[in-house]
Amino acid sequence: MSPQSHDDLTGARVLITGGAGFIGTALRTALTRAGARPVLLDNLSAYGPTTLTLLGTGPTDPGLTVGDINDEPLVRRMVADADYVVHAAAHSSVHGCTTDPQTAIRSNLTGTDTVLRAAAASRNVRRLVLLSTAQVYGHGAPHSLRSEQAGVFTEDQPLDPLNIYANSKLWAEGHTRQLLGLAERDYTILRPFSVYGPGQVPKQGAASWVVAQFTMYAALGQQLLLNNGGRQVRDFIHRDDVAEALRLCLTAPAASGQTLNLGTGAQTSVRQVAEHVASHFPDVEIVDAPRVAQDPLGACADTTRMRTVLNWQPSTGVADGIDAYVRWVRTTPNAIPDWMRAETSTSRINAWSAPIPR
Ligand SMILES: NC(=O)c1ccc[n+]([C@@H]2O[C@H](COP(=O)([O-])OP(=O)(O)OC[C@H]3O[C@@H](n4cnc5c(N)ncnc54)[C@H](O)[C@@H]3O)[C@@H](O)[C@H]2O)c1
Repeated sequence: MSPQSHDDLTGARVLITGGAGFIGTALRTALTRAGARPVLLDNLSAYGPTTLTLLGTGPTDPGLTVGDINDEPLVRRMVADADYVVHAAAHSSVHGCTTDPQTAIRSNLTGTDTVLRAAAASRNVRRLVLLSTAQVYGHGAPHSLRSEQAGVFTEDQPLDPLNIYANSKLWAEGHTRQLLGLAERDYTILRPFSVYGPGQVPKQGAASWVVAQFTMYAALGQQLLLNNGGRQVRDFIHRDDVAEALRLCLTAPAASGQTLNLGTGAQTSVRQVAEHVASHFPDVEIVDAPRVAQDPLGACADTTRMRTVLNWQPSTGVADGIDAYVRWVRTTPNAIPDWMRAETSTSRINAWSAPIPR
């Protein structure tokens, strides 16, 4: 069955690549609530069984096809059966892409090409939404590494990806515009800023996802390490807000062919996040650490276009969102992965300081 009108997703078949991930599983919930029929495709490369269970999925999930976006016959079949495609599958951590560029290329470039060509060939797909990243802006403005002031990233400003992950996403953006443009297929490109919320479990070696990292390390009684003194700023957007924006993005007429920031417009320094987390764990120690190579200084999103195109704005503020995350970790202690328990401050700094490509 196809949807009735442009804003009605009832019965719409939505393929979510990377659907077993942190954002994909939240989007499935939002789409199911809207009466759509989400279908997940994921190779389950990002998480172990405990995290997948917490995300509400796993190998036996009837709504999930376990497979790779490089499996062209499978992707063609699944895309041909879809009214909409959300392409969220990616080797999605900066550290993971730096240390394993070949997997980054397979998933973020070759796999993206496979999904896009399938969408271009399909008669059914009404719109493909690509999840890019705010990392494509790099440092953005020429402010100094020591500056307490940061800027605002606007969609049309020059892009300057600083790492392999960001570069792969910039390529994916261009390929989406070029390939689906040639095929006269509809698409929207989203640049989420720092997504966080219950369900988020850090990836080993990664310096990012600081709300999750700081909370879990604090719960373990370990130090909170502030690389670059925590001066970097981020725009933290809650997972449920991202899922809602994605849902709206599928059908919003004005989103056609657009590139949109996905943030709150508020900037928070990494130090502020650590201090807020520490207010819940009075014994925790906050310690300065060296800057992480290729880590953007950051900025908040200019949300003008997002708010206009989607006629929507995020509803969760960062303080409430961090509080909710802390509650989630306290009530779900098995969310903390075993590898975190074995870390020391030195092993963490070593992993960030000298990422060596394999
Ligand atoms: N979480 C954030 O803060 C954030 C910010 C900006 C952009 N994004 C982007 O949003 C998307 C979703 O992010 P997320 O936080 O849910 O990440 P995630 O790692 O939780 O989810 C990505 C999923 O893709 C799957 N995957 C990876 N390679 C695959 C392949 N070759 N074939 C099939 N599946 C594959 C993984 O198993 C994982 O479940 C990603 O493209 C990411 O780059 C995320």
